[in-house]
Amino acid sequence: MAEPKTNELMEKIVSLCKRRGFVFQSSEIYGGLNGFWDYGPLGAELKRNVKELWWNTMTRQRDDVVGLEATIIMHPQIWRASGHVETFADLMSECPVTKKRVRSDQVESQTGIAYFWTGASDAEGKVCAEPFSVLIPIGKPPESARKVAAQFYELRGIKSPVVQGERSEKLENTVLYHPESGARLSEPRPFNLMFKTYVGPVESEDNVAYLRPETAQAIFAQFKNVLETSRQKVPFGIAQVGKAFRNEVTPRNFTFRSREFEQMELEFFIKPDEAVEAAHGSVAIVPSSGHPGQPQANWGWQAWHQYWVEERVKFYEGIGLSRETLGFHIQTPEELAHYARATTDILFKFPFSKKDGQGNVAGDELEGIAARSDFDLSQHERFSGKPMGVFDDELRAAWAKLDDAKKQELSQRYHAARLKYLLKSGVEQARAEKQAKENADGLAKGQYIPHVIEPSAGVDRLILALISNAYSEVTETDDKGKSETRVVMKFHPRVAPIKVAIFPLLKNKPDLVNKALAIRDLLRPNMNVFYDDGGSIGRRYARQDEAGTPFCITVDFETFEGVKDGTAAGEKDTVTIRYRDDGRQERLRISELLALLMEKIR
Ligand code: GAP
Repeated sequence: MAEPKTNELMEKIVSLCKRRGFVFQSSEIYGGLNGFWDYGPLGAELKRNVKELWWNTMTRQRDDVVGLEATIIMHPQIWRASGHVETFADLMSECPVTKKRVRSDQVESQTGIAYFWTGASDAEGKVCAEPFSVLIPIGKPPESARKVAAQFYELRGIKSPVVQGERSEKLENTVLYHPESGARLSEPRPFNLMFKTYVGPVESEDNVAYLRPETAQAIFAQFKNVLETSRQKVPFGIAQVGKAFRNEVTPRNFTFRSREFEQMELEFFIKPDEAVEAAHGSVAIVPSSGHPGQPQANWGWQAWHQYWVEERVKFYEGIGLSRETLGFHIQTPEELAHYARATTDILFKFPFSKKDGQGNVAGDELEGIAARSDFDLSQHERFSGKPMGVFDDELRAAWAKLDDAKKQELSQRYHAARLKYLLKSGVEQARAEKQAKENADGLAKGQYIPHVIEPSAGVDRLILALISNAYSEVTETDDKGKSETRVVMKFHPRVAPIKVAIFPLLKNKPDLVNKALAIRDLLRPNMNVFYDDGGSIGRRYARQDEAGTPFCITVDFETFEGVKDGTAAGEKDTVTIRYRDDGRQERLRISELLALLMEKIR
């Protein structure tokens, strides 16, 4: 009975998101728009906190990463160079009756009775010889299948069709039929996921542009500008947070697969292994799991890849997603994108994540960490004609000291890697050979095109993970034996939309109210504070529990009492702080509040 429970939990989460203003359906008053979501007051705060934490961790806390904020619409050549125009497509099948489309790889397998017809005719002698088939559940009358067939032939101009050549057969675990109408799906066809638009007033092919399907490409296109203006040297990274758009065939699982979403991407540029080896004799070998520690000059792509996987897990742990809630998927060679050498996906165990045969949940993708080789910069160099390589003094000096055998070995390896890329990209053999030789000669002079490690996370998926992770229910029974179940959102204080709520015990006592407002004003410049004087304290706690507020402060009559003993209890200017997760309460000096809260939310 685990499956229905999972869906029930998801339904509760979706309902809470609307009720408390985390997430609303976009354009809801017009019936909504599939795959688009708005964030309400609490959701907007949560999202802002997550993006700021990511930005701080990935850029401001590091010396080797700088930021970028690029446009959503860019030169269309960018998407030709990146491969998106040609290959960013899902295979899609269509229901020939309802015209609804589904992603071919996402059709759930079904078992039922399939009906087949060879064609149909009408009373006027008109004939359609197109075969058709419908799958219906076992036990359903054949008329329901014939009704769909009639619709199919009517769409082909046959009035009140008389179907011909009917036969039926039981099919098990088939994925060939539309899950709603039962009609046999069309052959899968590629469907490009980029949203198209036109720049300027003329809607012509010359003016086509795309809404970016990832933020990464702007980073590659601006690589040289950033390098020249930031005084960074490889290895270093460029980070960006921003909107991305994909015309997903089947948006699903609430915000998990949306058509408009946000990404937080880092493109971390590293030296090719041959350059590291030339300078340091060898490339560091790191264990295949666990954090490899502080970056070292002799790290090759594998160490950097491992480093970023572990850094990203550390980030998730730091905002309340424990390792147990996460999973990992190392992509197989068949799964890897055309540009990737290796990709590790960090998964989160969402309420809708599927169980395997043993009942284990692997999870669904939260973030992918890809080793993208030098593919991206090489492509932009080829398509723009602008050099994307860097000059590395250390490499040139180190190369001069290598013996001839080592020079030859490294040169050959670099030549082979460049040739492989060029040939795969469709460059004609003789030109590719010439270019690869130039690249290998360049390496000896200290030049190379940087390789890239890319941790790419989805903001919306992370928000959904944090909401799912925070959701908990408590059942309390009052003195009269009446039980009530309510929701407590256990967000980590770092991401919680409201950090602290301030209550005066009674709203009709000006002293209490003024003191509470003064505390609000004291804390407000540093954190999101919510003032509430409505209803009983218990009700106010419950409302904040549902919003996920980790701390509630109450100003009561004791706040104005004089010192009774040496502790905060009984002293003047103290308040009660209540901790959401265990309901614990303690008395604190107002003067200590800011420091205590800052320590907890940082
Ligand atoms: N630059 C690499 C890249 O875009 P991706 O795996 O296609 O890689 C990265 O996307 C992340 O963006 C995913 O791990 C996911 O968190 C998020 N993402 C991708 N498609 C999404 C969608 N349709 N809705 C919400 N988030 C999405």
